[in-house]
Amino acid sequence: MPKSKNKPNPQKTEFQVSPAKPSELHFTQDWFSRSIPSWQFILSRMAQKTPHLRILEVGVFEGRSTCWLLQNFCKTPESTIVAIDSFQGGIEHKNMELGGLKKQFENNIASIGSPAKVDVRAGLSIDQLCRLVAEDTESFDFISVDASHQAADVLGDAVLAFQLLKRGGVIAFDDYIWSPMRPGTENPLFLPKAAIDAFTTIYSQKLRILPNLPLYQLYIQKY
Ligand SMILES: C[S@@+](CC[C@H](N)C(=O)[O-])C[C@H]1O[C@@H](n2cnc3c(N)ncnc32)[C@H](O)[C@@H]1O
Repeated sequence: MPKSKNKPNPQKTEFQVSPAKPSELHFTQDWFSRSIPSWQFILSRMAQKTPHLRILEVGVFEGRSTCWLLQNFCKTPESTIVAIDSFQGGIEHKNMELGGLKKQFENNIASIGSPAKVDVRAGLSIDQLCRLVAEDTESFDFISVDASHQAADVLGDAVLAFQLLKRGGVIAFDDYIWSPMRPGTENPLFLPKAAIDAFTTIYSQKLRILPNLPLYQLYIQKY
């Protein structure tokens, strides 16, 4: 007998996340959409094994990626996103007016109406990551590193994020090949790539780089 389309499936409890109306979400920038296909690929495989994901985002800005995670992969009360941001912008944002950034992030998250826990840690990533390590917090399935783009800061974020990652977990390093400087004038100390390369080289026996994904972000998996 064909199943009624409307009949609830008692085996499966689904938490509906009410889609926020576009008018309720306020974003001025989109630095995230280009990474959605890769995140979708990685997280959908992960979610098959781990239904309640624990995610750490280092650098959230207005919450575009956080909202996407809440709408697509963190729909249950047992899912968690820890969101770290200074809410002051990086050096590359010095011409932006960011006075209300934290409030804007919080409003966007509230508009999604997800039951998942969003734990906002405002402050410098190095301080907040050290705090998480010291708290001996439960480790994370997926970590996005997208805060300061200065090489020294990215290196610190990478080492601490790796400490907080589960075995089999994935770190997404944003802006691996980003440079705002004219070709030939780049200073690697002001870009993420030198730090990500140093980190992946030194940790090469503890991780693998995920192959066949677009290189704008670099994805590593912990052995
Ligand atoms: C490129 S934006 C993040 C974008 C976000 N992941 C997205 O996809 O929409 C970088 C963010 O990192 C934050 N940031 C920059 N340097 C930081 C630092 N040292 N510690 C914490 N947050 C920082 C900025 O305030 C900004 O919100």
